[in-house]
Amino acid sequence: MRPNDYRIQLIDRQPTRQDIVREVLTGLSQSPKQLPPKLFYDNIGSDLFEAITRQPEYYLTRAELAILARIGDDLQRLVDPNATIVELGSGSGEKTRELLHHLSRSAVYAAIDISAEALAAALTTLGEEFPDHRFIGLAADYLRPVALPADVSERPQVVVFFGSTLGNFEPFDAVRFLRRWADSLTPRDGLLIGIDLKKDRERLTRAYNDAQGVTAAFNRNVLTRINRECRADFDIDGFDHEAVYQSVPGRIAMFLISRRSHTVTVAGQPFAFAAGERLLTEYSYKYTIAEFHALADRAGWTPVHVWTDPENLFGLHYLRPQASRATLSQV
Ligand code: TRP
Repeated sequence: MRPNDYRIQLIDRQPTRQDIVREVLTGLSQSPKQLPPKLFYDNIGSDLFEAITRQPEYYLTRAELAILARIGDDLQRLVDPNATIVELGSGSGEKTRELLHHLSRSAVYAAIDISAEALAAALTTLGEEFPDHRFIGLAADYLRPVALPADVSERPQVVVFFGSTLGNFEPFDAVRFLRRWADSLTPRDGLLIGIDLKKDRERLTRAYNDAQGVTAAFNRNVLTRINRECRADFDIDGFDHEAVYQSVPGRIAMFLISRRSHTVTVAGQPFAFAAGERLLTEYSYKYTIAEFHALADRAGWTPVHVWTDPENLFGLHYLRPQASRATLSQV
């Protein structure tokens, strides 16, 4: 990045080591044991995730990009030309580029991503491609309340949440998360969100068990990270990757399975693993369009438009906040 490029502003609010240790200890104390998905995205994990998106079995990214590529006219019609784009989990910024090309007049782009390094790299690339835009990067956990610079929140906002990442939340948490955004926005704002569709088990299972083993490496990398950052002694090779589709309620569940009975120490605390015990690392819920609309409605959002790819693998939704009670009472 050009160091004096005033158009690109990076704010570092990354979780501290202490936050991470606390979350890991909480997750491992639960039964069944689990880990928070955001821990996947250290520098190595972010790179491995990019590699996942290029695996032939992982159709999600290609399908979403293909949708984005052909909806420019619709987006120009739907999105307020003065809107700030606020993207959650921008990753490499590949989809962002596609989006910004359609919305050339939306001159402020803010991104919140847990990985500071991925964020800096993405904004540098985008900054070169869009010389008239202003870029704000917030390296932070977007599950916590985040404050954007005041002049950003004064404009209309379109929140962008690609990659079916909402599916990584339990439905109750997904509603709570979307509700928080709906409450802080108004009907002139919008939400552009990618949601993977329900489909046959075979196709879904393959997407999370790629033949190259990239997803398995991504899954195991979380243990390497915990060893490094939480004074832990996980034997990485002592765990197998497993991703299964649970048709009720309709989610991929990803686990690390302990090969043998052993005890792991994390920040001084022992955790016993039985042979075959599953450590839950991630859910990826799949929603039909109707199911997602019902969820969004409970969270205070009105569906405006949905686009799918020709194979009907993936849905990209545009929604508006319902007029809140506070707004109605003013009328
Ligand atoms: N949001 C992505 C998804 O649900 C995240 C993801 C893809 C993922 N592959 C993964 C997370 C493998 C963990 C492991 O598809």
